[in-house]
Amino acid sequence: MMLIHRPRRNRKSAAIRDLVQETTLSVNDFIFPMFVMEGTHIRSEIKSMPNIYRFSLDTLLEELKEVTDLGIKSICLFPNYPESKKDKYATESYKSGTLYLKALSEIKNKFPDLALMTDIALDPYSSDGHDGIVENGKILNDETLDVLGKMALAQARAGADILGPSDMMDGRVGYIRELLDDEGFSEISIMSYSAKYASAFYGPFRDALDSAPKFGDKKTYQMNPANVKEALIEGQLDMEEGADFLMVKPAFSYLDVIKTLSDNFPLPIAAYNVSGEYAMIKAASQNGWIDGQKAMYELLLSIKRAGAKVILSYFAKEFAQLKA
Ligand code: PBG
Repeated sequence: MMLIHRPRRNRKSAAIRDLVQETTLSVNDFIFPMFVMEGTHIRSEIKSMPNIYRFSLDTLLEELKEVTDLGIKSICLFPNYPESKKDKYATESYKSGTLYLKALSEIKNKFPDLALMTDIALDPYSSDGHDGIVENGKILNDETLDVLGKMALAQARAGADILGPSDMMDGRVGYIRELLDDEGFSEISIMSYSAKYASAFYGPFRDALDSAPKFGDKKTYQMNPANVKEALIEGQLDMEEGADFLMVKPAFSYLDVIKTLSDNFPLPIAAYNVSGEYAMIKAASQNGWIDGQKAMYELLLSIKRAGAKVILSYFAKEFAQLKA
């Protein structure tokens, strides 16, 4: 049969398929989220996230040696605090010498080349389990900025390279940027969780941190999964307020949002391949229902293809191990 166009010719061998492959993944694309907790010699696996652990600082440093030897250059650290350290105003988040800040400075000391990203939000330290200050069942925006600012400065002093406000309060990027600049931290980057949705896919992470909201949900600050135009507003504001990266979170169900931000903004776009997405693939693969490794590649590739340059993913280490 005479066919002028036979698209299959470009798929006929591995060599040609590789030649025409448009999107590729590299360890350079990844930020590996890690969890630190109090204590020593602890490596406690998170039940809903096979192969992901909460580490005490000593074991975290050991793990980081392995992670950086695999070529991973960026991590994002989250703390797990006991209930006894939590209060309404998340004061533990900026007290000097507290677990998280100590961990940041030790990591920076031992791994100076690592790009060290933090999390800015109240929830790991909040007795209400919310990202902002709660009063009469409401989240107070402007009062929360004050705490976020204190956290940002404390993390900057501890040696963070990239600050990650994940709280979704209005105006926080500009507020933090100004504080940083006033204190001489003009080189510290901000990766804003710009389009962060009120998602069911954060469940395993909240297990990891014991940080689930004590009442209600996060819908008055995190975005409605039905909306994409709001993501343009959030992206615009964050860019104008001085963000260096715009993030979309979660990733898999929001590929159109990643694409929209990537088409509309010149800043590098990051996507957070969140805990629930990781858990789904792991669970299905442990049941023998899908090939976990292939599913991992395919999904990570789709995030990059949609327009994310940076991927925060619990798969980062596994990906690097498979590459090595
Ligand atoms: C909260 C925060 C969350 C995640 C990162 N920062 C959870 C939430 O908003 O409740 C989720 C990450 C994940 O699910 O992997 N500030």
